[in-house]
Amino acid sequence: MMTATYASYRSKLETYFDRTASKTWEQLTSDAPVSRIRATVRAGRDRMRATILSWLPADLSGLRLLDAGCGTGALAVEAAQRGAQVVAIDIAGSLVHVARDRSPPGLSIDWKVGDMLDPSLGRFDHVVAMDSLIHYPAFDIVDVLRSLADRTSGSIVYTFAPATPMLTAMHNVGKLFPRSDRAPAIIPATERLLRTLASNAMPHARVGRTQRIASGFYTSQAMEIVTA
Ligand SMILES: C[S@@+](CC[C@H](N)C(=O)[O-])C[C@H]1O[C@@H](n2cnc3c(N)ncnc32)[C@H](O)[C@@H]1O
Repeated sequence: MMTATYASYRSKLETYFDRTASKTWEQLTSDAPVSRIRATVRAGRDRMRATILSWLPADLSGLRLLDAGCGTGALAVEAAQRGAQVVAIDIAGSLVHVARDRSPPGLSIDWKVGDMLDPSLGRFDHVVAMDSLIHYPAFDIVDVLRSLADRTSGSIVYTFAPATPMLTAMHNVGKLFPRSDRAPAIIPATERLLRTLASNAMPHARVGRTQRIASGFYTSQAMEIVTA
């Protein structure tokens, strides 16, 4: 069941990604020139996307994959190019619009605007959630994973913001700004806490691989939940 905190974070994220940061996000995920700082983020995100994709079967033909919080769609496109039947969903309609425009023709991608937990999306072989849960607290992340695990037969690969001293300090400094000026905070979590919550919430699943990627101003960690 969706918690009140999940609904409240989701609503802030929708406003932020659909309106406030839509153009910035569109630019970051393109080949357009960006500042040196953003270039480090772009490079880190490219490595993260490659890591997540490398944890999926090489041949995805006939497999149903959910890209949960697809943004402008780069991961969905690469998965579909490897044969997956992709459902790519995001609450930010403006980003899904960009994703649809960028997508090469002939791929099996069902672009949708909405919540990744929508039960009408059906069952999946694999789910990926790259950097789409990093703004939720750990207990909501694990609630989302548990709900997705119930309808996933292979694996879920998601990322979280590891509680490094730098990210924790940035999170705390962010709290000093007036609420109206803030982008939704990235909420750091420890791997240990997520492992504990995940194994309690999903006794039939197990934590598989995990990999941290750090590149300049980008730090994120992938974790695989094996549901098979
Ligand atoms: C940091 S962006 C990452 C986008 C994409 N996965 C990528 O790596 O390029 C996070 C995305 O997650 C989406 N998102 C957050 N919560 C969501 C939810 N509950 N359902 C669907 N999308 C969500 C946001 O709208 C945003 O586009």
